[in-house]
Order: sequence, then C-alpha cells, then structure tokens
Amino acid sequence: MMAISQDTFKANTAYVMRDPDVGQSAQEFMDEQIEFTLQHRATTHPFLETYAKNGLPKEASKVLYLETLHYFKYLPFYVCGISTITRDEAMLRAIAFNARDELGQLKSHADIYHEFLLKKGISEEEITHYQCLPGTRALNDGIRALYSTPPLQKAMGALFADEAMSASMVSKYNDGLIREGLSERDRGFWTLHMQVEVGHSNAIFNVMEKHLQTQQERQTFIEGIHQYLHLMEMYWDGIAAKIKGMAHHG
Ligand SMILES: [Fe+2]
Ligand SMILES: [Fe+2]
Repeated sequence: MMAISQDTFKANTAYVMRDPDVGQSAQEFMDEQIEFTLQHRATTHPFLETYAKNGLPKEASKVLYLETLHYFKYLPFYVCGISTITRDEAMLRAIAFNARDELGQLKSHADIYHEFLLKKGISEEEITHYQCLPGTRALNDGIRALYSTPPLQKAMGALFADEAMSASMVSKYNDGLIREGLSERDRGFWTLHMQVEVGHSNAIFNVMEKHLQTQQERQTFIEGIHQYLHLMEMYWDGIAAKIKGMAHHG
C-alpha cells in the first residue's frame, strides 16, 4: 500500500515539482492545509479505508464505481470555471494544465474511466441508466458552484483540497481493486492518477502565494477547503449507507 504524506508532495520525483521560490510563510501555510486535508474524515473515510483493505462483492463494487463515474464525469468542465473568476495568467496556466491533462491527447481520462468500467464487467446499459445518489449530485453541484464563484481564494482552496485528497484517495481505490483481483492493466486509470494528482496539487501550490498574502485571503482559502471536504464526506456517507443497505436486503 502506498501511503501519501507531506513528503510525497515535496519529492523531486513528483510529476510537477514544487517551485523552490515559493516563500516560507506561504509554503508552511499550504503544507498545514495539506496535512489537514489528508487527516480529514473525507480523506480517511471508514468506508474507503475498509474498501482498500477488503474490496467489495461484485454488485456493491458496481455501485461504488458508478457513483465514482458521476463524481468524476464533469470535473474538468468545472475546473475551467475558475478561469472566469481570475485575471492571473499564472493561475489560468495551472487551471488549463489541469484540464488539458484530463482531456489527454487522444483519449480523455473520462474515456479511460469508461473503458475501465467495461473491463470491470459493468455494461454500457448499466452505465447509461444508473441514477446517482443525492450526495453525489450535491457534490457535483457544490464543486461547480465553488469553482465558478468569487472569491478566487475560496475556489482555489476547494481545488487544492480536491487534488491533495485525490492523491490519497486514488491509491485506496487501487488497493481495493487489487483485492477484487483486477489486473495491473485494468487498474491503469488508477495507477495513472496516483502519479498525476500530486503534480496537480503542486501546480496550484506554485501559483498561490501572491493570492495568500493577508489573513483574510488565507481564511477564505481555508473556507474553500472545508466546504469541499464536507461535500466529499457526504458523498462517502451516501455510498456507505447505500451499500450497507444492499448487504441487509440481499
Ligand atoms: Fe483525471
Ligand atoms: Fe487532479
């Protein structure tokens, strides 16, 4: 099991490395926020931890990955919403880089995820007709609003939490899939993201300093982090409850 820690983000093997010129105060502040995010219940949710250890039976696993589809599906569109609330080119570059990564050269991450679902034995029909949980819809609506509404610091706090949380989350999905017996090739979507999420986080880290000068700006950034993690916690609570219900009713 690959554990994500503070050090993962500082490694010089990271997909995007941290800019050593970011000042110490901003660096320490953002490191504290990463630590907070990694320890938050949204990131260490008991359902996800148990999944990483044991995997899930077929039908329950299907629910998990169809909910996850609805969580991921439109993220790059939402991330681009941030471009409408900033006039900082460095920030726009970080956002565009993130979205460009998601879209790929020929295949988008959404395409790769779709192939993953098919390889996992989930049919086109099931993919098309699946209705996601209210918590998952609230996560989508919440992220879309956070990323397209000023102040910029709040949107960026949410995205910063998203990337740090994801870096940890994807390795737990991957561990659960190993338990379920999926081959390394069929887990490609997940191993790819174990590399890129830390880089996405660092890309934001590198452009935030000039927007985190005052206590007020930092407090607004923290608010974005809290709101994002709250939405994520509700997402996991919803999935956990649905899958628990399936076990009780056959
Ligand atoms: Fe992605
Ligand atoms: Fe990302």
